Amino acid sequence: MEKQDTYNKNLVVVIAAVAATGGLLFGFDTGVISGAIPFFQRDFQLSNSMVENITTAGLIGAVIGAMFTGRLSDIFGRKKTILAAAVVFVVGAVWSGWAPNPHMLIVARLFIGLAIGVSSFSVPLYIAEISPTKMRGRLVSLFQLLITIGILVSYLSDLAFANNNVLSSWRPMFYMGVIPGLILLIGMFFLPETPRWLMSKGREDESRKILQRIEEPALVEDSIQRMKDEIKKYEERAGLKEIFRPWLRTALFIAVGIMFFQQFVGINTVIYYSPKIFMIVGFEGARAGIWAAVSVGVVNVLFTILSLFMIDKLGRRKLYFIGLSGIIFSLDALGLVFAFHTALGDVGKWMAIAFVWIYIAFFAISLGPLGWLIISEVFPLRVRGIGSSIGSLSNWLFNGVVAFTFFKIVKLFTASGAGIITHEKLYDEATHTFVTHAINNGNPAGAFWFYAFIGVLGLVWGYYFLPETKDVPLEKIEEHWHQGGKPREL
Ligand code: BGC
Repeated sequence: MEKQDTYNKNLVVVIAAVAATGGLLFGFDTGVISGAIPFFQRDFQLSNSMVENITTAGLIGAVIGAMFTGRLSDIFGRKKTILAAAVVFVVGAVWSGWAPNPHMLIVARLFIGLAIGVSSFSVPLYIAEISPTKMRGRLVSLFQLLITIGILVSYLSDLAFANNNVLSSWRPMFYMGVIPGLILLIGMFFLPETPRWLMSKGREDESRKILQRIEEPALVEDSIQRMKDEIKKYEERAGLKEIFRPWLRTALFIAVGIMFFQQFVGINTVIYYSPKIFMIVGFEGARAGIWAAVSVGVVNVLFTILSLFMIDKLGRRKLYFIGLSGIIFSLDALGLVFAFHTALGDVGKWMAIAFVWIYIAFFAISLGPLGWLIISEVFPLRVRGIGSSIGSLSNWLFNGVVAFTFFKIVKLFTASGAGIITHEKLYDEATHTFVTHAINNGNPAGAFWFYAFIGVLGLVWGYYFLPETKDVPLEKIEEHWHQGGKPREL
């Protein structure tokens, strides 16, 4: 009875919610730049390639962050790592908003990128390790929910601050990032370290105390025993080499693979460029484009909420196959809409937005949360820090490659004469007026079909490599790899 009282589900939810603020920052700081670009470009009078440098700086920061902090979180613990990221988020937000010149902005974005990279692996890791087995999937998906809320909030706040007559509109957009940064910093300060990490440092009493507050009473001693066994088996230091051992190759292949397919179905072409895509298909003006993007952001959030209820019930594999099939279908349909946009006329743009909604809905219930969940689950304790950091590192690399190549792929797959022409008002520095330009955007139909094709490969990959981790204790997953088990048979 006494034990029952100390086990506190609400506490776990609070813990996860605060930690997941790291996800909100991740989403916010990725999304915020899309609305800020037009303003700092004019404010600093930048060329497009300089804009690209500034955008890419954040991404490079994220790659570096994900690369170096995996080890640090194993050494210093999950909590301290997240606290450090929170400080970087706050400082980076102020720094970005304040930047007096483009070079400073590059450094500031690189800096905040570090925090995005760090939090993108340490937050799901923290949550997975502190959650009771039965709630693990739902709680890690909370991280994904906050990413999507962060993206939506950044679109909305960009919209709120975007004033065409005020060139410095981009500054308050960046400053806004201070608020969630402070919440994470203050909240995390009061949260406990994870029992699993404490155990790996031989701090059994502390570990048990925390476990008693968060795990089902019947499972506490069981969990302790499992952690102990696991640790005893691998006394040797877990280094980079360890993660490339043959018995861990499957886990590594799963982590990198799930991130590959999460990114290569083209999710971020929609997240970063949806205003642009909607303008191409016939919505007029940047504001209409941004509004259409906001609607995508809302669908993303709503369906991620739905996924919270499904992920621990339906399981990972079912959601993956349902989600990916829906993604392939809507990418094919989008391709058709763009291929026949002249024949479709005005209906085309509404069909396009409908299929983007369907696409994002299927992504939100499957690959979105699954990517981060799976990388936090498949590695054994001793290499979990490094392992999930390799997972998020791949996420950022693939993310970068897709974002960087989207318009090139569009161009590559546009049949001659099939390009869609739009008329956009661009700022002319010489005359300080807006001049209408005709722009040939190419036709994204082929690009969408290309992503759909990769999705089909993803179905095959998933059949062989995606493990069903629902209701399986993390320690059991490891045993399975040790016995040379196939992912499909978990
Ligand atoms: C992905 C991001 C993406 C977001 C969209 C995340 O799981 O990693 O790249 O922007 O989902 O909701």
